Amino acid sequence: MTTHSAIWHQLECGSYDVDLDCWLGLAADYGGPILDIGAGTGRLALMLADRGREVTALDNDQELLTALAAHDSDGRVTTLCADARDFDLPQQFGLIIVAMLTVQLLGGEEGRMSFFGRARKALSPGGCLALAIADLSDDSAADGAPAAPDSLQLAGIQFSTQAVALHERDQQIGIERRREIHGPGRSVQVLAATDWIDAVSATTLEAEGATAGLSVTARRQIPDSEDYVGSTVVCFNG
Ligand SMILES: C[S@@+](CC[C@H](N)C(=O)[O-])C[C@H]1O[C@@H](n2cnc3c(N)ncnc32)[C@H](O)[C@@H]1O
Repeated sequence: MTTHSAIWHQLECGSYDVDLDCWLGLAADYGGPILDIGAGTGRLALMLADRGREVTALDNDQELLTALAAHDSDGRVTTLCADARDFDLPQQFGLIIVAMLTVQLLGGEEGRMSFFGRARKALSPGGCLALAIADLSDDSAADGAPAAPDSLQLAGIQFSTQAVALHERDQQIGIERRREIHGPGRSVQVLAATDWIDAVSATTLEAEGATAGLSVTARRQIPDSEDYVGSTVVCFNG
């Protein structure tokens, strides 16, 4: 059964698609198996497997990986529940993707350096590690009205979620969301959730990766969309 964690994830990340061309371009440029770090419910992992690629999806939330597997009846995607800062895999990958600001969820520089060490080991020689980051302090969408809520109905229960505010604290931006569960009957549950995103520039990320022994290569760009600020994809070769 789908859990609430997977429902919120699907509602808050599932419809994002302006980055697809970027990841497909990288997949065309780099052969071999793909490791999707922070894969969530498989928005990218399933899309890449659909195109015939061998994909491993890593996430630290088993509920999300279970939802991914529920959409993968042929078992094309290998899943691994592990922390991105502390994983070990027996194989190496031609492309490691870290989409949708996942690298900004790893607990600052210390967490990112642990991650870079693991990723370097998992990257094939000549392969590519690509990480999408954004500067949310520059989110012009935050100056206007909040985006409309996203919602879905499941077994008579309506789930809706809406980003309502951005907050700032030491080196982090918080995205505050209002989540509502309507039903069964007339019951309404309102939940507040804030995701704290580390502020990190592309230049800093490149310096950290270089310190971990990776070679910086050309950045790529993901454009703004109506609801999401654009991002920079920082790339390294193994
Ligand atoms: C913004 S979502 C991106 C989901 C997916 N990559 C996509 O593009 O649709 C971030 C994902 O990173 C996962 N995550 C956060 N911290 C993690 C960690 N330390 N190790 C592994 N996964 C993590 C979350 O569970 C979540 O699925």
